Amino acid sequence: MNALITGASKGLGLGLCTVLAKRGDTVFAACRKASPELVALKVRVIEDVEVTSDEVIQQLREGIGKEAIDLVVCNAGINTSFNCDGIETLDLAAVNQEYQVNALGALRTVQAALPNLRQGSKIIFVSTTGNVLGRNPPRGGSYGYRMSKAGINTFGFLLAKELQPRGIAVRMISPGAVNTDLLRAIYATGRVSARAPEQSPDPVSAAQVMLSKIDELTLESTGSWVDETGKSWA
Ligand SMILES: NC(=O)c1ccc[n+]([C@@H]2O[C@H](COP(=O)([O-])OP(=O)(O)OC[C@H]3O[C@@H](n4cnc5c(N)ncnc54)[C@H](OP(=O)(O)O)[C@@H]3O)[C@@H](O)[C@H]2O)c1
Repeated sequence: MNALITGASKGLGLGLCTVLAKRGDTVFAACRKASPELVALKVRVIEDVEVTSDEVIQQLREGIGKEAIDLVVCNAGINTSFNCDGIETLDLAAVNQEYQVNALGALRTVQAALPNLRQGSKIIFVSTTGNVLGRNPPRGGSYGYRMSKAGINTFGFLLAKELQPRGIAVRMISPGAVNTDLLRAIYATGRVSARAPEQSPDPVSAAQVMLSKIDELTLESTGSWVDETGKSWA
């Protein structure tokens, strides 16, 4: 299988590359700058992939060339609005950046990869916990992160409808809490609702669980949202 993973330099993206490479898949690892850990995997690295730029579409296309792609994981993501909860003090530039990376970055990645997808290919969006996006979240705030992740869910639901006739399946997967830089930064602020990083799965373990949710995806279950426990939502 040929897989394209964004945000491959560290965290969950690096975990996905690690597991895929180990099981013999060909990995196109898209990142801004390759980390030593990523280089050590000896996968096919595509560097300078800045998902906020429209030029990324051409860069990714050049990186994957004419190879058929069986799996795209739109994983690159940021959470910078966790420490500015109040609507009056909201940093709109930070919110804009979250949209650019989390929502529009995924859209650009899909546009780039689409010519290389074929019947049986899968597109995965890394979403977040359902209860923070739903109607009655446990707490307010994190506007930019949650709104951009809600946007990615909507994108996925719509894309699933459009691509089903072409035999391409789409799924949103929440990995749950994973011990990465993203979670550690939130936890460092004293945020009580975030699970402690050291009590959360490491990125490789979380990637293994995610891949089981990817492998089970079929055209019948396209457009579904699922979390790391298998629970569906929306
Ligand atoms: N960790 C959790 O508990 C958790 C829970 C729910 C969902 N998620 C989701 O999981 C995904 C991966 O996050 P993570 O926890 O692994 O965080 P992470 O360790 O901070 O990794 C984030 C990745 O996204 C990349 N990225 C950020 N901005 C980018 C940009 N503008 N262009 C291209 N790449 C960019 C980073 O690249 P650089 O190294 O170049 O910055 C990095 O590779 C995100 O979508 C996140 O929302 C994580």
